[in-house]
Amino acid sequence: MILTHTFAEGAELRLLEHHHAGELFALIEHNRAYLRQWLPEWDVQQSLEECKKVIKTSLEQLAANGGFTLGIWWKGHLAGVVGAGHIDWENRSTMVGYWLGKKFQGKGLMTGACRALIDYLFSELKIQRVEIRCATGNPRSCGVPQRLGFSKEGVLRQAQAFDDHYLDIEVYGLLAADWKHL
Ligand SMILES: CC(C)(COP(=O)(O)OP(=O)(O)OC[C@H]1O[C@@H](n2cnc3c(N)ncnc32)[C@H](O)[C@@H]1OP(=O)(O)O)[C@@H](O)C(=O)NCCC(=O)NCCS
Repeated sequence: MILTHTFAEGAELRLLEHHHAGELFALIEHNRAYLRQWLPEWDVQQSLEECKKVIKTSLEQLAANGGFTLGIWWKGHLAGVVGAGHIDWENRSTMVGYWLGKKFQGKGLMTGACRALIDYLFSELKIQRVEIRCATGNPRSCGVPQRLGFSKEGVLRQAQAFDDHYLDIEVYGLLAADWKHL
């Protein structure tokens, strides 16, 4: 299946498929320590087999109309992942999650990828509300919704267990009516 969307020069979004498992595993291996700081769930992918399972699950989710996960390619290399992993159709809302390999930060790749994804969610899927949650103390992650015009709606105090402590989680929301194609 060829499902590629170019959102900036050299930057593409593609559906993550089975044959991407090796590339995904290599990216996680290179970034394990860095990802562990904020996304321990991706550190769990300790083998190629586990990466294959993650892709299989995301494709099953897509087939069930429940959400989807995309890879971000930069100049031909897999750079990260972005997705709306679960779509709540009853309320027409979803949450967007993401990560990039460390060396792919600082180029506007995630902001551009999220802009394209959100545009699709609002324009094509007629989603009403998109949410992004980021830990307080992760300014790079919070910078993405801030650049895209999300409103900070509040902070969920000590909402996520992490090692021996709890993280405060900032909730950012954007409504279809507010989307200005920034
Ligand atoms: C969160 C994460 C994806 C953000 O990456 P990022 O590179 O800061 O975000 P973007 O790709 O949107 O790039 C924005 C940066 O590029 C710069 N930039 C360059 N060209 C740009 C452009 N055309 N558009 C927007 N920003 C641009 C911005 O100034 C910004 O840099 P700054 O923060 O130094 O000012 C990344 O840090 C990450 O994966 N972290 C680890 C995992 C994680 O925390 N995931 C989120 C969990 S909620």
